[in-house]
Amino acid sequence: MSNYDVIMQRTKTFRENRFGLFIHYGLYSIAGRSEWCKSIERISDEHYQHYFDNFSAEHYDPKKWARLAKQAGMKYAVLTTKHHDGFCLFDSQYTDYKVTNTKADRDLVKEYVDAFRAEGLQVGLYYSLIDWHHPDYPHFDDLNHPRRGDPAYTDEKRDFSRYLEYMHNQVKELLTNYGKIDIMWFDFSYKEMKGEKWEATKLVNMVRSIQPDIIIDNRLSCGDKFFDDLDAAPIYCGDFTSPEQFVPTKAICDKYGRPVPWEACLTTQAGSWCYVNGNDNFMTPRQVIYSLVDCVSKNGNLLLNVGPTAKGDFPKQTVQLLEEVGEWMYQNGESIYGCGAVDLPRPEGCKLTGNGKDIYVHFFDLAGSCVAIEGITNGQVDFALNLDDCTEVPLKITLDLEALSKEMDGKVSIPFAKAQLKNSIDTVIKLVMK
Ligand code: GLC
Repeated sequence: MSNYDVIMQRTKTFRENRFGLFIHYGLYSIAGRSEWCKSIERISDEHYQHYFDNFSAEHYDPKKWARLAKQAGMKYAVLTTKHHDGFCLFDSQYTDYKVTNTKADRDLVKEYVDAFRAEGLQVGLYYSLIDWHHPDYPHFDDLNHPRRGDPAYTDEKRDFSRYLEYMHNQVKELLTNYGKIDIMWFDFSYKEMKGEKWEATKLVNMVRSIQPDIIIDNRLSCGDKFFDDLDAAPIYCGDFTSPEQFVPTKAICDKYGRPVPWEACLTTQAGSWCYVNGNDNFMTPRQVIYSLVDCVSKNGNLLLNVGPTAKGDFPKQTVQLLEEVGEWMYQNGESIYGCGAVDLPRPEGCKLTGNGKDIYVHFFDLAGSCVAIEGITNGQVDFALNLDDCTEVPLKITLDLEALSKEMDGKVSIPFAKAQLKNSIDTVIKLVMK
C-alpha cells in the first residue's frame, strides 16, 4: 500500500468526524492576554512564577467541557498538555514545572482524557516542541525565546540533546499513561528548528510503536511541501496539514490532484488561542457554521478553539456559541459527518457537501426564489428534503419552474419560499439521489 493510501486509511474516522474542539489552557490563562505573552513581552521567569503560584484551576471540570463539545456536535478534542511556556498540565516525572506542583495539584490531562472518552469523543493531545522553561532549549539565539538576544543567556552551555531526551520522554509519558490517544498535535517548527532537529523520525517511530493508530499533525516540519507527494514524504510529515486561522480557498490536493487530509484551526475569541480578559470579539454562530461547512465542502475538518479562564470556565460567550452551533448540528449534522466536497459548480450564495451519494445544498443567502445547480438533472434526484424538520421540498412546483428547469438543461432547480427555508443561518436541503 502506498503511503498516501496508508494515510487516507489511518485518517478515515478523523475525516468523517469533521468537527473538533481545541482547548488552550495553562499558566498564560492567568495573564489573560496571549499564550505568547512571555515571549512577546519578554516576561522574566520571576514574574511568570506568579502565574504558577496562583494556578488553582478551581472550576476545572472537563466533564462539563466534554458535554458541551458533544452537544455542539463535535466528535473530538485537542488539549494543550504543554504549551511554549513549558508548563505541563500532566504529572510528568521529568519536570517539577507541572500542574501537580501548583495549587491545582491534580493531573488535568488525565481528567480531560477520561471525561472526553466518557462522552464518546476522540481524544487529542497538543504538545509544544518549543519550550521556554527548559534550560537546554536555545535562549540567546532563538527566534522566539523570551531571553533572545540577551547576553546574560548565551547558549554555549546548553545541551540541546538533553532537551530532546526530555521532550521525547514526555511524549512517551503522554502516550503511555492515558490509554488510547487518537491525535498527537505537535506545535511547531520554524527556521532550522524542524524535522530531524527534533529527531523527528525517531520520535514518530516511538509514537507509533506505542499508539499504532494515532494520527499526527504536520508541524514536526515546516510548510506543507510534503503534502505535494505523500508517497515520497518522510515519516514525520504527518497525516494531515493544519492551516491556522484561515480556511483554504479550495480543497487541498497533492500534485497528482488527490485530496489530502487537512484541518483548519480557528479561534473563537478574536486573535488569541488563550482566554483574553476584556476581549468581547467572539465568533458568531453563523461564522462557526459557515466556516465548518466551508471546510467540509473542501474536504477539510474544523478544529474550533476555546480558551477557558484560569479558573477553568469556558467564557459564557463560548458556552452560548457552542449551544447555538449545537442546535444547528442537531438538525443538520448529517450534512457534515462523513461528508466532503461535491464535484459540481457551487451555486451562488450556497455551499455543497456530499457523502458520495446524496448531496446537501447549504443556503447561506437567499436571493430570488429558486436555485439552480449545474451538472445534475431533476431526473437524477429522487427526492429533496429540508433537514431542519425533514419536510419535503418540491423540486418542481409550478409549471413555470418546470419550464425553467427544462430551459436550464442539465441543471436541477430547487424552488424555495422564505417560509420553507426557515433556518436563518444555513438551511440545508438534502438531495436524495437515485
Ligand atoms: C501557533 C501558536 C500557538 C497556538 C497554535 C495553534 O503555532 O504558536 O500559540 O497554540 O498556533 O495552532
